[in-house]
Amino acid sequence: MPNYTLESFISDCEDRAGTHGEPADIVRAVMPLMHRLLCGSRDFLRPEHFRSEPDHYARNLVYAADGAGLSLYTLVWLPGQWTPVHDHGTWGVVGVVEGLLEEQNYMRLDPDQILERHAGIELRRGGLVLLPPSSVSTFVPNPDHIHKTGCAVDRPRCVSLHLYGRTMNSFYSYDAEAGTRTLIQAAHNETRLGQSEAA
Ligand SMILES: [Fe+2]
Repeated sequence: MPNYTLESFISDCEDRAGTHGEPADIVRAVMPLMHRLLCGSRDFLRPEHFRSEPDHYARNLVYAADGAGLSLYTLVWLPGQWTPVHDHGTWGVVGVVEGLLEEQNYMRLDPDQILERHAGIELRRGGLVLLPPSSVSTFVPNPDHIHKTGCAVDRPRCVSLHLYGRTMNSFYSYDAEAGTRTLIQAAHNETRLGQSEAA
């Protein structure tokens, strides 16, 4: 079977996203494409995509469509680095490149969750997921999937690929104890013309 290139993957994902209206149908169609990409040559990942940060997990842009279309990032967690508890505001497909990606899911218990509410949010910890290399997980919005992901302190570096249905430049970060959420701007490292720069 010929190698599955990044260009083919993006083209196929844009086709599936355009064909299906329901996010649950989109992630079902895209999930095997992510697995195929992970199981092929990973030459499309350049050294810039493995950049890490000493103080927090790193987000490195791999691809962003013009406008508000699909976006693809590598996320790099050094041991002990985690996201905050967060949502996404779109669908997503996550594939593990190396290491073990750990996910702590949260259940939202307050009613009328689709309403824009930033306080009085009741969260309870749900189940955990441990994702080895080449595994794929997905999520859909409305109501949003709320979780935190990262790398346990006693494990080696973890690197994963995250495809989103929009440019992922912001998301809500949740304070589970206070029952509040705050919109935060999500910075990433951008790669242009073979150079890396902080965005
Ligand atoms: Fe997430």
